[in-house]
This record gives sequence, C-alpha cells and structure tokens, in this order.
Amino acid sequence: MYTQLQLRGSARPPVTVATLGRMKAEGEKIASITCYDASYAALVDEADADVVLVGDSLGMVIQGHDTTVPVTLDDVIYHCRAVARGLSRPFLMADMPFMTYTSPDVALQNAMRLMQEGGAKMVKLEGGASQVAIVEFLAGHDIAVCAHLGLKPQSVHKTGGFRVQGREEAVADQMRRDAKSLQDAGADVVLLECIPAQLGKEITADLHVPVIGIGAGPDTDGQILVLYDVLDITPGRKPRFVQNFMTGHDSPLAGIQAYVQAVRSRAYPTAEHCF
Ligand code: KIV
Repeated sequence: MYTQLQLRGSARPPVTVATLGRMKAEGEKIASITCYDASYAALVDEADADVVLVGDSLGMVIQGHDTTVPVTLDDVIYHCRAVARGLSRPFLMADMPFMTYTSPDVALQNAMRLMQEGGAKMVKLEGGASQVAIVEFLAGHDIAVCAHLGLKPQSVHKTGGFRVQGREEAVADQMRRDAKSLQDAGADVVLLECIPAQLGKEITADLHVPVIGIGAGPDTDGQILVLYDVLDITPGRKPRFVQNFMTGHDSPLAGIQAYVQAVRSRAYPTAEHCF
C-alpha cells in the first residue's frame, strides 16, 4: 500500500504533513497554489508545487460570485476530485466552505466527505479561538487540519470587506493567541492571509507547525497564491500581494514554474507585496 502511495506517477515521494514539518525545520520554503481542475493540476504538479489548495476562492474565480460565501461543500468536492486526478506529488488541501463546520459533528461529517469523495488530505477552515473545539475534534479523529487566520473571506459581510487584519495591537495580540491555541488544539498548518509582514514573522517564529502566508510577508514558512492571479487571468484591480508570473513567460506551465521557483528562492514576495 505504501509503495503505491509513494510511487504513483512520481519519481519523488508525495508531500505529507511530515514533509511540511521538515521543510519548516530546515528553512525550505513551501510553495503552495490554489487549483480547481485536472488540467491545471497536472501543470501545478509538473511545476513541482508542494501544496495545492482547492480553495473556496473557486466561488469568485470560477463561479463569478463577489465572495466565497455561496460556495457549497458539493462544489468543493467536485473540483477537489478533479484536481486529485491531476496530482501525484503535491499535498492536496481542500477548503471547508461557509457554514460547513458549525459544530464538531457537522465538521467531522463534512471533512470526511472532502477526504473520501474529494480526495483531500487536509481540510482548511477559517477562524480563531472559536474554532478550537472543532480543530481539536477533527484532529482527535486523525484528520489533518489547516487553520486560516487574518483576513477570513467567509466573514467579509460581518467584518466589512476584504481588508488587512491585525494592524491594531489588540487584534494582532488576539491573532497571536489564536494561532497558538489552534496549534495546541491539533492544527497541522496555519495559514495567514493579509496581515502586516511583521506579525506574519512573529507568528511564524512562535509556532512549531508550518505557517503558509498570502499577503503576510516574506518570513512565513511558505507562500500561497490563487492560480488565476499567478497567471494574470483574474480581471480588475489586484491585491497588493499579487504578482503576475506570466511576465516574460509564454505558457501557463512556465508561469507556474516561475512562481514556484520565486517562492523557493525567496524572490517572492518582496517589500512591494507586503503590508
Ligand atoms: O480560497 C482560497 O483560495 C484561499 C486562499 C486565498 C488561501 O483560502
């Protein structure tokens, strides 16, 4: 069984939670990207990304909604299953959509579906201290969990929009405490979105689990971007942390490879991408 898991279609063994922990310990940057279908998954695999997220950002970039709120569990499962077919080495993470983790039991049932039907190896959920019991329950059932802090897109109607989080000391302090609590509850990865670079650096140094950032500065253990931003497909005004990796490249594969290499070599993000 292990042989099949490790060798399926890849010369290198698949990325696991243990791989991510080792990368943090050795200071190797974790190159992560979102993906929503099998064809792009094959490119992301060939570009050698470490982590692939089937994000609920699919509600915005695939379905055309203004927020991620309308995305359903079935939507994520559908896209996750397609992505899983295109991947061999990267670690596959899937988002738990809005209101799919309202209690430990609901979260467990839905995480189970993401893994069994979608092929996800880790589930990601948004939230701070209020999600500690859920993370603990999932981790207690041996489900790998990523806790998403900072800007939480599922909460935009409550928080008032897509804004940088943690500029005020009280909010930053709460985020530091939440990150620790979620790690202690069993989260295997923490994802930080849209926070000041200094806070990203401090939380990363404080935690023993890997921290992946998006708009969280250069010092997190890894970076993640939305595939369609990497390829400059997303129309309209871009967030400050986005870089168009198609510049100077003539194929989606070359653009994704440029992103992966830029994360690994620490060429991305630079000061211009930070808050
Ligand atoms: O849904 C998503 O794509 C995400 C990333 C922005 C991290 O959560």
